[in-house]
Amino acid sequence: MAIDSRIFVLSVLILLCKLSPSHGRTDPSFRVRAVNLGGWLVTEGWIKPSLFDGIPNKDFLDGTGLQFKSVTTGKYLCAETGGGTIIVANRTAASGWETFKLWRINEKTFNFRVFNNQFVGLDTNGNGIDVVAVSTIPGSSETFEIVRKPDDSTRIRIKAPNGNFLQAKSEALLTADFTGNSEWGDNDPSVFVMTISGRLQGEFQVTNGYGPKRATQVMREHWKTFIVEDDFKFISQNGLNAVRIPVGWWIASDPTPPPPYVGGSLKTLDNAFLWAQQPSKFTRTDGILISDYRKYGVKIIIDLHAAPGSQNGFEHSSSRDGSQEWGKTDDNIQQTVAVIDFLTARYAKSPSLYAVELINEPLAPGASLESLNKYYKAGYDAVRKHSSTAFVVLSNRLGDIDPRELFPLASGLMRSVVDVHYYNLFSSIFDNLSVQQNIDFINTNRTQQLNYVTTSNGPLTFVGEWVVEWRVNGATKEDYQRFGKAQLEVYGRATFGWAYWTLRNVNNHWSLEWMIKNGYIKL
Ligand SMILES: *[C@@H]1O[C@H](CO)[C@@H](O)[C@H](O)[C@H]1NC(C)=O
Ligand SMILES: *[C@@H]1O[C@H](CO)[C@@H](O)[C@H](O)[C@H]1NC(C)=O
Ligand SMILES: *[C@@H]1O[C@H](CO)[C@@H](O)[C@H](O)[C@H]1NC(C)=O
Repeated sequence: MAIDSRIFVLSVLILLCKLSPSHGRTDPSFRVRAVNLGGWLVTEGWIKPSLFDGIPNKDFLDGTGLQFKSVTTGKYLCAETGGGTIIVANRTAASGWETFKLWRINEKTFNFRVFNNQFVGLDTNGNGIDVVAVSTIPGSSETFEIVRKPDDSTRIRIKAPNGNFLQAKSEALLTADFTGNSEWGDNDPSVFVMTISGRLQGEFQVTNGYGPKRATQVMREHWKTFIVEDDFKFISQNGLNAVRIPVGWWIASDPTPPPPYVGGSLKTLDNAFLWAQQPSKFTRTDGILISDYRKYGVKIIIDLHAAPGSQNGFEHSSSRDGSQEWGKTDDNIQQTVAVIDFLTARYAKSPSLYAVELINEPLAPGASLESLNKYYKAGYDAVRKHSSTAFVVLSNRLGDIDPRELFPLASGLMRSVVDVHYYNLFSSIFDNLSVQQNIDFINTNRTQQLNYVTTSNGPLTFVGEWVVEWRVNGATKEDYQRFGKAQLEVYGRATFGWAYWTLRNVNNHWSLEWMIKNGYIKL
């Protein structure tokens, strides 16, 4: 296709002018219109379930919650008092104390973590066969095998490290001394009915599930194919100007991150920076090679989505078993600052680096405001060591907090941004709302909430995650279009901008690519 060369040269010049001060806020009316690249460098199973398909024994991943009902007592196993003492078999209903969270050693063997975080094991200080939950570090006495009944996978037996099976001798006594085979009958005290009460499908689960060798292959294939250069073209051609890229803390020790994480995600992030600013090269029909600077120029917001220890216990922060340890020690905070330091140093010179988000969705009260403030101050300084221009994004805590709680700190920081996430989901207030009520909520309540955090002398505001999805059943395409339009209008007033969650997802409404291609949203 022939190109009018005058228009072409002109466009290139205009673009170069626009690009050069690319991370300055020279234009105060500029707003980020971004899409998240979720599920790429930090795994979330619901975004791409097939990533887990090849894992052997994939029901039993780290963090899977299991409940066991003894067929002889008819009652659930329970860590008495939540942990620290014996395991009993006398509970009629199962919840926290009756849930055992897996740590996967390999596809066959596991540790069971109880409510108070001890591990189930044999009472090595006593008779060696009573089953207790006292050890805080799992060792060989805490390592079990789960054997499923061949034709009914809800019936299981648990093989102890001494080679015997566990049995519910009575409601008050669980021991590891059943030696016989099983007919799997209701009179066999070594048989339990198993319920899976919860699952995590994050980066820890997928990498540890595959094991070191396979995980490297699978993850590298995923990184190479899930997001590609063409996506940056699509983004820049569809009214977007930026991407928010979730990354995990282990990226800073690439290519040899601590197990089970595997190396290669840093190179993939390097690629994103290349693609974001890559001039597209193509050969004209008359044989002349053209570098077309018009196509790209996507800004990048690096988002530390998974911090060491997990800042919220969710799979998207790579929690191993739902626990939330981030921020509890100074070492942990320093380790997180070092990740920010590393990433900013690496990309500070790229014209695409627009902002660094220090941590995503820390959850109150586990992540305390005190440790968060300490971290945000140190993380901000780490960014500024390398870049005077990159915006520094501070994510508000999830939970029952004052959305202005970061203002005392943020107001004293140059180019700081507060990130709020607005979903009409994850709360019972949305359970029974109609289409119109959902839209009214955006226009009224979200506007109020955004106004509350948008102040003339405070940080800029960023709606860093939102989606055109809700709890409405049977909504029409037009309903979705109206819902999306309302959100775009309201979030368009955020002074830093917004980012849709996410670019690609097997759930259509969560895939901005699908929403654009199918006419559900127009930017
Ligand atoms: C279960 O057994 C333990 C140990 O005998 C006992 O202390 C506890 O009260 C029992 N709980 C129930 C609900 O029966
Ligand atoms: C939603 O409606 C259902 C069915 O009418 C009702 O049981 C439930 O309590 C409602 N939820 C809320 C949060 O109002
Ligand atoms: C939304 O805002 C309206 C008007 O201020 C208020 O009456 C209503 O309670 C708010 N809804 C929720 C769920 O907070």
